[in-house]
Amino acid sequence: MTEKSMRLQGKIALVTGGARGIGLAIMRALVAEGAVPVIADVNQAGAAAAVAALGHADGQVLRVDVADHASVAAMVDAIVARHGQLDILVNNAGIGGNTPFLEIGPEEWQRTIAINLSGAFFVAQACARAMAQRGEGGKIINIASLSGQRGGHGRAAYGAAKAGLELLTKVMAVELAEYGINVNNIAPGAIETEMAKFAHDQATRAAYNYLIPMTRYGTPEEIADAAVFLCSDEARYVHGHTLNVDGGFRAAGLMFRGSKAIPPGQG
Ligand code: NAI
Repeated sequence: MTEKSMRLQGKIALVTGGARGIGLAIMRALVAEGAVPVIADVNQAGAAAAVAALGHADGQVLRVDVADHASVAAMVDAIVARHGQLDILVNNAGIGGNTPFLEIGPEEWQRTIAINLSGAFFVAQACARAMAQRGEGGKIINIASLSGQRGGHGRAAYGAAKAGLELLTKVMAVELAEYGINVNNIAPGAIETEMAKFAHDQATRAAYNYLIPMTRYGTPEEIADAAVFLCSDEARYVHGHTLNVDGGFRAAGLMFRGSKAIPPGQG
């Protein structure tokens, strides 16, 4: 590998929810840059298989339920006990949800907020405390969503949680700068993962493909490329930012695909 492709040599990198999907793709990309992988997931067998496939001698597997504060504390203690440090957190664990506003019940609402917002907070706080205590800075990337920026159908709980996470990123950036902890947010659009396969039916897929200027779903690897950049020194002055990786979905307004251009003065 070239020197440029080993930008994260020796960095201890935790990805929550890294057993599959976007988290796993990010973990692979960080390892390709020289990072030491730590995958923590509620699916311990999946996390173990993922770390084994990465083939890194120092890789670590942990079971965590991010919604459980004690479980999160034990996760960070185990990382510090094993490696003595934590350099990178990718705060990725999350669940989907597509229940219409008039139908969503209290259990689904609370579970979604518990994992996608409270869980992300527990993880970020515990990791930031470990980084601050060591005094050598760190990198934190929260994985929010386009659904936290736009009012999508069926996205009441999910969108509210992700919007909260985006704001939390800004607060973290403000408060953690003095500790040298660099905090940013990635907002994926529609990404082809197990979560999307479960949550998106054919009509949803067609709607996404129409509304996304690039007319396709993204890949987990495209999110991973953005994460590597934000974890690298090249992004040292990017702070409190949300990087949308969405094929232009957030930028789009009126779409006239297939229709004639509107004559000047008639639009
Ligand atoms: P996925 O369902 O494929 O993977 C999520 C991982 O998180 C799984 O390994 C799962 O076991 C783990 N997980 C779930 N609950 C957990 C908990 N309580 N504690 C610890 N681990 C837990 O999902 P995907 O698509 O890879 O999503 C990853 C992140 O990206 C999520 O935060 C999601 O909201 C976000 N995202 C995904 C998009 C997509 O189109 N797939 C779009 C926008 C954001």
